[in-house]
Amino acid sequence: MISSNLIIIKLGGSVVTFKEKPLTPNYEGIDNILKVIGEIKKNFKIIIVHGGGSFGHFWSVKYDMHTKSYPYSDQGVSVVHESMIKLNHIIIKKFIESNLKPYSIQPSAFVFNGAADPTRIHNILDMTTGNELIPITFGDVIHTSGNNFSILSGDTIMSMLCTELHPQFSIFTTNVDGLYDDMSKGEIVREIRVGKTDINNIFLKGETEKENPETSFDVTGGMKRKITESIQIAKSGTSTYLINGFHPERILDIIHDRKYIGTCIRMGSGS
Ligand code: IPE
Repeated sequence: MISSNLIIIKLGGSVVTFKEKPLTPNYEGIDNILKVIGEIKKNFKIIIVHGGGSFGHFWSVKYDMHTKSYPYSDQGVSVVHESMIKLNHIIIKKFIESNLKPYSIQPSAFVFNGAADPTRIHNILDMTTGNELIPITFGDVIHTSGNNFSILSGDTIMSMLCTELHPQFSIFTTNVDGLYDDMSKGEIVREIRVGKTDINNIFLKGETEKENPETSFDVTGGMKRKITESIQIAKSGTSTYLINGFHPERILDIIHDRKYIGTCIRMGSGS
C-alpha cells in the first residue's frame, strides 16, 4: 500500500558537499534544495537521507576503510562517524535557518547488525504525524557486532526506508541529470522498467562512473549502488527518480506530474 503523501529524498554527497574538495560543504547546493523542500512540505510528509560526499568518504579512504571490510581501525571509525555528525549538523542548521523543522536521526537508531528494525522505521514516520518535523538521517559507519563496524551508504538507507514505508516518491539527487545509456550521445534513459528494460548496459555505465576523478573517493559504489537500491525500491511498489540535485525544481515537476529531466525506475508492468 503506497503512502500517497510521503516522499523520501536522498541528498547526494555530490550535491551537499564539494566532492573533490575534502571536508567542504556546498552551501549553495544545500540552500537550493531547501527552497524546494519548503514547497514540497505544503503537500507531503518528508523524510531526508543525506550522503557523505567529501566528509565521510574522505576519511574512509584516509583510514583505508574503502577497500577493506571490517574490522576497521578504531580511530577510523571515530573519525568517519564524527565527520558525518558534523555534516549532518551543518545540514540540520541550514534547515532550521530556513524555518523547516528537521529532526536528526543517527542510522544506528534503526539499524542493528546490518538490518533495519521495522518498528523503529515506522517510528520515524510517526514523527511526521500532526506536526512539521522532517526526520533527517545519513550514511554512516555503524556497529555490526563485536569489534566490527560497517559503512552504511545513504543509498542503502533509502532502500531500507522505502521498502518499509512505501512512499509515493523516492528521489535520489546526484550531480548528474540521470542515467545515460550512451555517454557519447549524452542521452538520458528516461525510464527503466524493472523486469522489462535490459539494464546490463546501464549497469556498465554505472561502473564507469568510478573512473570519474570527481567521484574517486566514493567508497560505497557510485551510481551502480543507486541502481541496485532503486530496483529493490521499485519492486516494493515505489517509483524511484534519479535527478540532478543542482536542479531541485525537477522534484516539483515529478510530484506535479509535469515533464521532468531525470531517470525513473519503476516496476515493469504497464505501457
Ligand atoms: C556515505 O554515504 C557514508 C560514509 C562514507 C560514511 P553515501 O554513500 O550515501 O554518500 P554519497 O551520497 O555517495 O556521498
